[in-house]
Amino acid sequence: MLHSQSRGPLRFVTLFTILFFVAIASAASLVNITVDDTFGNSQENLQITYQPAGAWSPGEDCTSCAAHLDTTQVHNGTWHDTTYLADNPPSSPLTATLAFDGVAIYVYCIVTRASTNPFGNCDMTFYLDDVEVGRFLLPPNGDPTYHYSYPVYVNASIPSGQHTFMLVNGRSDGQTALALLDYIIFS
Ligand SMILES: *[C@@H]1O[C@H](CO)[C@@H](O)[C@H](O)[C@H]1NC(C)=O
Ligand SMILES: *[C@@H]1O[C@H](CO)[C@@H](O)[C@H](O)[C@H]1NC(C)=O
Ligand SMILES: *[C@@H]1O[C@H](CO)[C@@H](O)[C@H](O)[C@H]1NC(C)=O
Repeated sequence: MLHSQSRGPLRFVTLFTILFFVAIASAASLVNITVDDTFGNSQENLQITYQPAGAWSPGEDCTSCAAHLDTTQVHNGTWHDTTYLADNPPSSPLTATLAFDGVAIYVYCIVTRASTNPFGNCDMTFYLDDVEVGRFLLPPNGDPTYHYSYPVYVNASIPSGQHTFMLVNGRSDGQTALALLDYIIFS
């Protein structure tokens, strides 16, 4: 009798200790990996790919691009610039794609609400494993301020495993739309 009574609390303490270490282990295993628009992530050997060829420009070297950013405020001094032209739409979608192994993704752009030079309309659609999961819309209002490290898509409830994320800029029948992609973090 005495024996089994003393085992009750002991079992409880043991269970509690195990749960505590499981919680620590799962928190510690969530590591954030940053993938730059241009340099990717060299440790993980990851790169963002852009389609169609030539439709996205490295923004920091782009003389024909209207957006001229403060390179000290962008990740690694680089960004990718593309514009969906409503009056001259591309023959295939303007996409940025990243394959990653994780449970969360955070996509950062530079956004502006300028009405001219550049026309800062945001109209992006996001896909995970070819399924549409979100959209980011922000029409211009004349404010030319650039907002750096702006999270345009966040998803912290992705099933663990290998996934493909795709950003599509603009859409057919939509307005002209600008995308300035800076970096992607995944966990
Ligand atoms: C990963 O980065 C996101 C966005 O900055 C942040 O909200 C999250 O807490 C970070 N997670 C870890 C495990 O550091
Ligand atoms: C990009 O920035 C990250 C984090 O700030 C840094 O670790 C990495 O070395 C940089 N890569 C390049 C090519 O500058
Ligand atoms: C996150 O990703 C999951 C799996 O792809 C999807 O079912 C869910 O709708 C997404 N949530 C958000 C907020 O995008």
